[in-house]
Amino acid sequence: MSTTVIDLDDLDMFVSGDPHVAWSWLRENAPVHWNPTAAGGYWALTRYEDVAAVYRDPVSYSSKNGTVLGGSYRSATDTASGQMLICSDPPEHRLLRQHVHKAFTAPMMDRAGGYVRRYLGEALDRMVADGGGDFAVDIAPMLPAGLLSAMFGIGRDDALRLLRLTRTMIGHRDEEYAGPAAGSMTLVAAQVEIFDLLTELLERRRVDPGEDLVSILIAARTNGRALSESQILYNALNVAVGGDETTPFTASAIVEALIQHPAEATRLLDRPELLDTAVDEMFRWTSTNAYVARTTTQDVTIRGVAIPAGQTLTLWNASANRDAAQFPHADRLDLGRTPNHHLAFGVANHRCVGMPAARMEISLLMSELVDRGLRFAPSGPVDRLRSNFMLGIKHLPVTVS
Ligand code: HEM
Repeated sequence: MSTTVIDLDDLDMFVSGDPHVAWSWLRENAPVHWNPTAAGGYWALTRYEDVAAVYRDPVSYSSKNGTVLGGSYRSATDTASGQMLICSDPPEHRLLRQHVHKAFTAPMMDRAGGYVRRYLGEALDRMVADGGGDFAVDIAPMLPAGLLSAMFGIGRDDALRLLRLTRTMIGHRDEEYAGPAAGSMTLVAAQVEIFDLLTELLERRRVDPGEDLVSILIAARTNGRALSESQILYNALNVAVGGDETTPFTASAIVEALIQHPAEATRLLDRPELLDTAVDEMFRWTSTNAYVARTTTQDVTIRGVAIPAGQTLTLWNASANRDAAQFPHADRLDLGRTPNHHLAFGVANHRCVGMPAARMEISLLMSELVDRGLRFAPSGPVDRLRSNFMLGIKHLPVTVS
């Protein structure tokens, strides 16, 4: 292998290959890798230590140009820049975050947990009665559907509609979600439709406030000043996308991992007290959000490589989480692993604000699988999302016993 044959933009590698082979080679041989693309190129960091150091330095590495390559928030002129949590820098970031954070309280998580338990339980009952199904389609979406029902104060059908739209946004390079014209226009169209839905919700909540995220953002004040309408919409969108596009893919990846590691599946069924460490190990192992991007604000040098200001850097969480310098036997799934300081949620000021929700959803799923003593086996090929950003499983046909 050589740096010239490794292309982290090669989506075929993410659909049918094993990107871990490429990441492992990069960690060893080219930890500061220049990945050329048709649009120019970007730097790729694959070692735990380097990825964590960049996360911790928001002054030299900005989020303002967006965190997804080719995503909608890449341009400095994009209106989301500085207004949406994920693509803002301090001090705006801190101000926005304190408001969004208020939507992830323990009572909200309890309420959301009630919905998740109900939707998930009903879907699992159906799958068990049928002897199997497509886990990625029949079960996984119930996690964000439950969460968003509570966080947005909407019914299951609206939550699933929101999920379809955010999936088109994130899967805009994948024909199954975005149609034959998959590309940036599909992304824009999906985003417009989500904004219509959120604007309607905003108007309703202004008249009739509730305990949901939009009502919390409407009531938010910084030195007596309310958030602008676009700040409310962008941050509601940020939570919807963050909530929809991560945990369902993680859920399917967990079931795939349990199928591929039957001894660990048995260990968990025999020792349910391992659930806490198992949940974290599954976050490390699956690392659904493969990378996040940053832009250098000044000339920097990483491991002797000079990187000028204004360049794009990608921080590969999925690779850092398999770095043997940080995790003993990093390539081994160990549901009892401790300590486990993985970077699946990033670290420092932008660390996933939805982490309590993700933990709640995945813990509920795993304890439900353990309580019911469920074992899965493959009943058809796994179909993966055409994306290097989200390590997503679109179809996971299984039998269940
Ligand atoms: C397994 C599940 C999840 C994973 C792997 C994940 C991953 C991440 C990562 C890596 C970041 C850091 C981005 C950066 O530093 O630029 C992040 C931020 C964020 N996540 Fe998550 N996430 C998950 C679940 C969720 C959920 C359930 C929600 C909402 C309900 C959510 C909402 C957000 C938001 C709003 C941010 C921006 C935080 C900020 O910039 O301060 N995420 N997530």
